[in-house]
Amino acid sequence: MSRSAHPAGPRHADVLPEGHYSAPPADLNTLDPKVWSQTVTRDGDGVATVGGIDVKTLAEQYGTPAYVLDEADFRARARAWRTAFGHDADVFYAGKAFLSRAIVRWLHEEGLNLDVCSGGELATALSAGMPADRIAFHGNNKSTEEITRAIENGVGRIVLDSFQEIVRVAHIARELGKRQRVQIRITVGVEAHTHEFIATAHEDQKFGIPLAGGQAAEAVRRALQLDSLEVIGIHSHIGSQIFDMSGFEVAAHRVVGLLKDIRDEHGVELPEIDLGGGLGIAYTSDDDPREPHEIAKALTEIVSRECDAAKLRTPRISVEPGRAIVGPTAFTLYEVGTIKPLDGLRTYVSVDGGMSDNIRTALYDAEYSVALVSRTSDAEPVLARVVGKHCESGDIVVKDAFLPADLAPGDLIAVPATGAYCRSMASNYNHVLRPPVVAVADGESRVIVRRETEEDLLRLDVG
Ligand code: LLP
Repeated sequence: MSRSAHPAGPRHADVLPEGHYSAPPADLNTLDPKVWSQTVTRDGDGVATVGGIDVKTLAEQYGTPAYVLDEADFRARARAWRTAFGHDADVFYAGKAFLSRAIVRWLHEEGLNLDVCSGGELATALSAGMPADRIAFHGNNKSTEEITRAIENGVGRIVLDSFQEIVRVAHIARELGKRQRVQIRITVGVEAHTHEFIATAHEDQKFGIPLAGGQAAEAVRRALQLDSLEVIGIHSHIGSQIFDMSGFEVAAHRVVGLLKDIRDEHGVELPEIDLGGGLGIAYTSDDDPREPHEIAKALTEIVSRECDAAKLRTPRISVEPGRAIVGPTAFTLYEVGTIKPLDGLRTYVSVDGGMSDNIRTALYDAEYSVALVSRTSDAEPVLARVVGKHCESGDIVVKDAFLPADLAPGDLIAVPATGAYCRSMASNYNHVLRPPVVAVADGESRVIVRRETEEDLLRLDVG
C-alpha cells in the first residue's frame, strides 16, 4: 500500500523522512471531490460545509469527534448501484461496513437488499423494517440461535459456509417445518490484491468451502439431497478494497465452471450467483476507483460470456458492496489538541479520538487523507502525523499528510472516507467513548447513532 517518499524539497524540516506520502498538494485548502462526499464544499469564510451545514456548527451542536454522514451522497451511491445492475440483478448492501436503523430505511427506500452477518445486524435490519426476504445471512460460525431466528423470520437466503453448517441449517429448517433458500459460499483460489487480512478467496483461510479437490462440488451434492434446503446458487467473495477487476473475472470463470459441473452431474441449473463485495474506494487522491456502472457492465459481461461458453442459462447475479456505498459518504470531525513538532521527522498532531474510532490504520496499514476544515490557511505545508489520545504509540489515524504550519489547538480537522469500517469497528479502548454518527441533508442535521456516555460504560459494568 505504501508509496515511496517523494523529493518534496525543504519544508518544515530540511530532510523529509521515509513515509507514505507524495509531494505536498499545490493547495492544502482544496477538498478533493474524489475523497470527500458529494455535498462537501467550503463556504465564503473558508469553513467546510456538508449538506449545507458548516462543520463549526456541527462541532458546537454535537461535539467532537463525530462521524458526519452525507445522506444525499449515501442515497445517490446506493441508487447508482441499484440502477447500474438493473432489475435482473440484486444489490445487497453489506451491513458490516456500517449499519444503523436509518441506513436500513434508506436502503429499503432506494430498493437495495441487505447482507447481515450476525444476530445483532439481523435485529437492526428487522427492527427498521427491512423485509426479511430481502436479507442474506452470512457468517462462518453462525450460532444455532442465530440460524433459528433467521429461518423463523424468513430471511431470503442463508449463505452456507461449511459442511457442518449445511447439516445444521437443514436440521433447524426441518424442525421448524420450513424449506430454507441457501447459497453455498466457495473459495475459488484467487489471490486478491489487497491487505492479507481482508483477502478471502485464497484457500488458506476460514471462509467458504474450497473449490479445489472437489470439496465445493461435494458440498452442493450433499445440500441438494436435503429436502429442507432449496439451493439457489453459489457465492464467492474474493476480498475487500480491490481495484483490479481481474480477480472477479477469474472468480466468475470458476463459479460458472462449478455451475456447469452441477448441471452435468445433477441436471440442475442453479439460478443465482453472488460475486460478493470488495470494490475499492478512494482514501487519498492517488486512488482511482471504478464507477458502479463500469463494475456492473464488467461483471455482467464476464458472467454472460462464461455462461454462453458453458451453454448455461445466465443466472441472476447479486453483489454485496459495503465500503463502495457508505465509505465515501462520511468524514470524521476532530478537534486538534496537542501539537508536537519533532525536528527532522514530522509534526505529531493529536486529536480527541484515535484508534478507538478508526482502527483501520493500525490494523491494515490503511492510508487516509486529512484537511483543516474550520478555516483555510495560506501557511506552508508541514509533514504531519495525525494521532489519537490512546495509550499506545500505534494509535495513528493518518500516517503521513500535509497540514498547514499554522495549525493550532482548537482547529477542526476532518478525515474523509471514514463511512465504512470505522464506526462499525469502533471500540471503547481506554474507556474512550464512541462518537456519534450525525446525518446531514438539505441544511438539516440529526443524530442517527448517539454518542456513547460514561453512563453507558458504567451500565455494562455490573460491579
Ligand atoms: N460480502 C461478504 C461476504 C463480505 O465478507 C464482505 C466484507 C462484503 C460483502 C463487503 O465488502 P466491501 O464491499 O465492504 O469491501 N474491516 C475491513 C473489511 C472487512 C471486509 C469483510 N467482509 C476493512 O476495514 O477494510
